[in-house]
Amino acid sequence: QQGPAFDVNAMTLTRWVLAQQRTVPGATGDLTQLLNSIQTAVKAIQSAVRKAGIAKLHGISGNTNVQGEEVKKLDVLSNDLFINMLKSSFTTCMLVSEENSTVIEVETERRGKYVVCFDPLDGSSNIDCLVSVGSIFAIYKKTSEGEPTESDALRPGRELVAAGYALYGSATMMVLAIGKGKGVNGFMYDPSIGEFILTDPNMRIPEKGKIYSINEGYAAEWASGLKKYIEDRKNPSSGKAYGARYVGSMVADVHRTIKYGGIFMYPATNSAPNGKLRLLYECNPMSFIVTEAGGLATNGHIPILDIQPSSIHQRAPCYLGSKKDIEELMSYLQ
Ligand code: AHM
Ligand code: MG
Repeated sequence: QQGPAFDVNAMTLTRWVLAQQRTVPGATGDLTQLLNSIQTAVKAIQSAVRKAGIAKLHGISGNTNVQGEEVKKLDVLSNDLFINMLKSSFTTCMLVSEENSTVIEVETERRGKYVVCFDPLDGSSNIDCLVSVGSIFAIYKKTSEGEPTESDALRPGRELVAAGYALYGSATMMVLAIGKGKGVNGFMYDPSIGEFILTDPNMRIPEKGKIYSINEGYAAEWASGLKKYIEDRKNPSSGKAYGARYVGSMVADVHRTIKYGGIFMYPATNSAPNGKLRLLYECNPMSFIVTEAGGLATNGHIPILDIQPSSIHQRAPCYLGSKKDIEELMSYLQ
């Protein structure tokens, strides 16, 4: 008659971040506070993504909004949540969002020392058909003196203090890399207690995978080296062909790549020589995490993390994944 085991000592995300803070002498707790505010935004976004409260919004009979208000679009709602939670954490001075054309300055009274670049809801083409979407964020510490300016966000990924993503998939998961050499940890959301629980400690990407991930619809516009690389994955001279997977949501495609190994690519094309993905809040944080998990990330020439950004919404070609797969790709791109 014994019930199921109940963990009375669970390692929640909040507890884990706090424990990390304790290992850094002189830490103020600001990063802990900042990560808590992001965690709150992510919880609210996951609830909205999963359509919690939809009956209230649409009315029990179907499509009328009972309040007569326009239902806020998910990406707008997610952006508002990120901005409001980050500003009210008193730990940030400047924000860069995919949804805002210019930087967002935090009011003087609420300023702290961190600069956060984020994509509040990535994978917009997948929102309406209920396929996985995600949130991505990158955190820098302001090092300059004086008022925050755009240049405080135009920093190479190597200088990141922390990066993370939330995947709203068949379950919700947050994956975090706090600090260089500190590895990557994954936390699964448990809706029954409203907490993220450490389920994937010290995530490591397999050295080599069996999956390639790229939008093959644009193959005609690829460079010849990339064409040959993909061709050889499909028709290998020895061994088995690679499998193909492409969700079209970067967070889902990268999460799978970390878990199962393989390679994810959003390449340069003839009409888009810098690819599509944004450096500051897509390529950089994901590359930081993949690199921390033992993988590699490159723009085809240099590591993504070494790129010196020149504008906040700039794009970069992005190839990331298992170490051996990226090295193999590089030999084709030379
Ligand atoms: P978005 O920010 O408008 O959602 O675009 C980014 C997304 C990524 O999540 C994904 O990797 C890529 O766009 C897919 O693009 P495509 O449809 O060209 O393959
Ligand atoms: Mg995006």
